[in-house]
Amino acid sequence: MATNSQCFWGLYLALSLYFIHSSSTPHVYIVYLGNSHNVHDPHLASKHHLQLLSKVFASEEDVRQSMLYSYKHSFSGFSAKLNSSQATTLAKMEEVISVFRSKTLRLHTTRSWDFLGLTLSSSSSTSAAGTPLQLAYGEDIIVGIFDTGIWPESDSFREEPRMRPIPSTWKGRCVKGEMFEPAKACNRKLIGARYYLRGFEEEYGPLNTSGNPEYRSARDFLGHGTHTASTAVGSIVKNNASFFGLAQGTARGGAPRARLAVYKVCWGKDYDGKCSEADILAGFDDALYDRVHVISASFGSKPPLLPLFVSEAAIGSFHAMQLGVTVVFSAGNEGPDPSQVTNVAPWGICVAASSVDRMFPTRITLDNKLYVMGESFIITPIKGKLADATTYFVNGVCRPENWIQSKFAVGRVILCFSSIGPYEIDEAEAAAKKANASALIFVEAMTRQVAVDIIPSVHVNLEQGTKIKHYLAQSPTKPVVQIESSKTVIGKSPAPRVAYFSSRGPSSITPDILKPDISAPGVNILAAWPPQTSPTLTLDDKRSVSWNFQSGTSMSCPHVSGVVALIKSAHPTWSPAAIRSAIVTTAYTRDTSFDSIVADGSMKASDPLDSGAGHIDPIKAMDPGLVYDMKTSDYILFLCNIGYTEDQISQIVLCPSGTDISCPQVLQSNVNLNYPSITFSNLQSTVTIKRNVRNVGKNKNVIYFCTISEPDGVEVVIWPRVLIFSWFKVESTYYVTLKPKKESQGRYDFGEIVWSDGLHKVRSPLVVSINTSCCDSYEYIPSPRKSQNAI
Ligand SMILES: *[C@@H]1O[C@H](CO)[C@@H](O)[C@H](O)[C@H]1NC(C)=O
Ligand SMILES: *[C@@H]1O[C@H](CO)[C@@H](O)[C@H](O)[C@H]1NC(C)=O
Ligand SMILES: *[C@@H]1O[C@H](CO)[C@@H](O)[C@H](O)[C@H]1NC(C)=O
Ligand SMILES: *[C@@H]1O[C@H](CO)[C@@H](O)[C@H](O)[C@H]1NC(C)=O
Ligand SMILES: *[C@@H]1O[C@H](CO)[C@@H](O)[C@H](O)[C@H]1NC(C)=O
Repeated sequence: MATNSQCFWGLYLALSLYFIHSSSTPHVYIVYLGNSHNVHDPHLASKHHLQLLSKVFASEEDVRQSMLYSYKHSFSGFSAKLNSSQATTLAKMEEVISVFRSKTLRLHTTRSWDFLGLTLSSSSSTSAAGTPLQLAYGEDIIVGIFDTGIWPESDSFREEPRMRPIPSTWKGRCVKGEMFEPAKACNRKLIGARYYLRGFEEEYGPLNTSGNPEYRSARDFLGHGTHTASTAVGSIVKNNASFFGLAQGTARGGAPRARLAVYKVCWGKDYDGKCSEADILAGFDDALYDRVHVISASFGSKPPLLPLFVSEAAIGSFHAMQLGVTVVFSAGNEGPDPSQVTNVAPWGICVAASSVDRMFPTRITLDNKLYVMGESFIITPIKGKLADATTYFVNGVCRPENWIQSKFAVGRVILCFSSIGPYEIDEAEAAAKKANASALIFVEAMTRQVAVDIIPSVHVNLEQGTKIKHYLAQSPTKPVVQIESSKTVIGKSPAPRVAYFSSRGPSSITPDILKPDISAPGVNILAAWPPQTSPTLTLDDKRSVSWNFQSGTSMSCPHVSGVVALIKSAHPTWSPAAIRSAIVTTAYTRDTSFDSIVADGSMKASDPLDSGAGHIDPIKAMDPGLVYDMKTSDYILFLCNIGYTEDQISQIVLCPSGTDISCPQVLQSNVNLNYPSITFSNLQSTVTIKRNVRNVGKNKNVIYFCTISEPDGVEVVIWPRVLIFSWFKVESTYYVTLKPKKESQGRYDFGEIVWSDGLHKVRSPLVVSINTSCCDSYEYIPSPRKSQNAI
């Protein structure tokens, strides 16, 4: 072991000290120590944490005041208020894996600037699938939702009739708090509720529930947690869910009989959700101890991403994975630019968002003959004089501060173009509201998210918007337009489409592991909402609703969590890697018109950097045929290759005693990690990649054949091309050789490998970027400045 520790010492130090900037003001730091197996007794672990801390404080009193949380059940570490020199001292200690400042993460809902965004429009009742399977399974599965809490009175969290007692494995509980009485709030459906506030309060000061609407308990104010929980596991609410009549239908979660445990780690501050990493890790520590089976986490940070084990998401989900718990993350809402994807740990599932086949067409009648169609959530028709923003806003940019003071826009329908500005509709809405307009027509790429309608707003595309503008220019007087109430239309082809906002790959820290993994519905999702919270999260909106529309990868993440619960229930022994493999290899890439799924934002066929393997197919995922599984040894090698020493790995990885932890002498690429997709981000010469599959189909004597679709300019050879399974041979290994056949400098090309036995299709995306710029002697030689001056 010592040899490797020596040779990686430099790297180790660099990792452990990450994100410590010199500063004498104390901040909340997380000190991560690895697995808790070294300290079996939680009390001893806490004592040990205090001892470590006492090495950087003079008095015991200071130590106690500095400590926020001791993480001691499921992994070992603590969070404490430290200055940078104390953090550095701790980071240098041998048993410390990493020390990093606790960051504040954001919810992955589409968000309007100073309040959370809501969208109006499509998607049939919140859930992804629709077979009796969903009703049969899930009762034995406990899904932990890490979010803003829960509105327990919602119909979505009612106990289903004849629900069996709470599984005996459950160790969690419902914690009492403000307006949260466990005896009333919790039942056989909602079986756990905890909240974590210390990290938040260190950052933002004491939670003031009178000045800032929040509850000092697991009760949800922001609505986000209620929404995601009901999407993942909400009970069936027949025929009565709608938003003022729109999207009327049955609401239910993906696994309506699964149990719900709530971990409130995100808090409202000025109507915005903030999640402290110190609090989230405390949630992981408890949830794993409580014995949840699935964790759903719809939040994250934007790039730049930190190295793994320097982020709460990677640490928490790593220990979850070791205990057989799947963690599902949202990919982020920073699309459609590339490389914005977050939550990229190879042991989690990262979810992109897509639309569903529901729309809310809204007709705008210009005169007797002429009308245009937009999309909106207009409840009551509006009539008003049409007004071009160029008349009322500086340079035609619809921003509140650009409002040219005059009374003329009062009661009018204002036309704003995103191409002129602002880019996002929420600002235009605020501007129209400030001008006391009666409605807004916002012109933009149609499928960009529909935002908060603080005033009635219709989205129209550029073609329709241009029509309106030309019509207005030709009219001698300001014409009156009529906006009809929106309709709900289902079955509108083509669907799904990858949402405009969904964060795209490749991962900016581990480009050889395809992220996102999968896409799921995340546009205009109707789900449960606290009636005390207005649907737009604005003060002057006095409406109360039980169901609300939201968009974001926050909404697609719990769809996958619900599906994971179903798979876990049907296949209790499958590892998180096997479950992810089942979801990834059965995803589909064709829309309802049998064409390639479109990526909104480009209007072109989507690829794996948009949506991973494609769109989730819950039914097929229950019976994938083959799975790409991963064992402890796979992760040991992965950790070696990202620079961890054998000593550190033995501290992080929960190994059965006798497991050999030895790293190869040189760092290797991680392309051989047994991931269900294959990505090679820098193909310079021929490489051979190894994969291992296990037959999990009913038929044990079965033969799988391979078909390959080559990425452009890449020759793909698979050996063997036939995999034979039997009762005695459930696993097989195959090799993929990738040979660059063109000159290229880092563009991505896509193909796939499909194994089929005639019944199952086990599909892996193949993502390759050829880079031949290394191999020719092209070098940049700066020309001497003198000669330039001479010219
Ligand atoms: C950090 O805190 C310790 C203990 O309170 C103190 O001795 C030290 O001077 C502080 N360092 C800085 C740079 O402020
Ligand atoms: C809480 O907020 C209210 C309203 O803004 C304010 O009046 C009150 O002083 C605040 N309380 C504390 C403890 O800060
Ligand atoms: C439908 O919901 C409304 C309010 O949300 C409630 O008053 C009504 O009783 C419900 N109807 C049924 C049939 O459940
Ligand atoms: C808009 O309405 C508000 C509240 O009624 C009023 O105070 C404001 O002066 C109005 N603004 C314009 C431009 O009419
Ligand atoms: C291509 O390879 C060269 C040499 O290894 C490297 O400097 C360059 O960044 C690579 N380009 C891309 C786009 O990966």
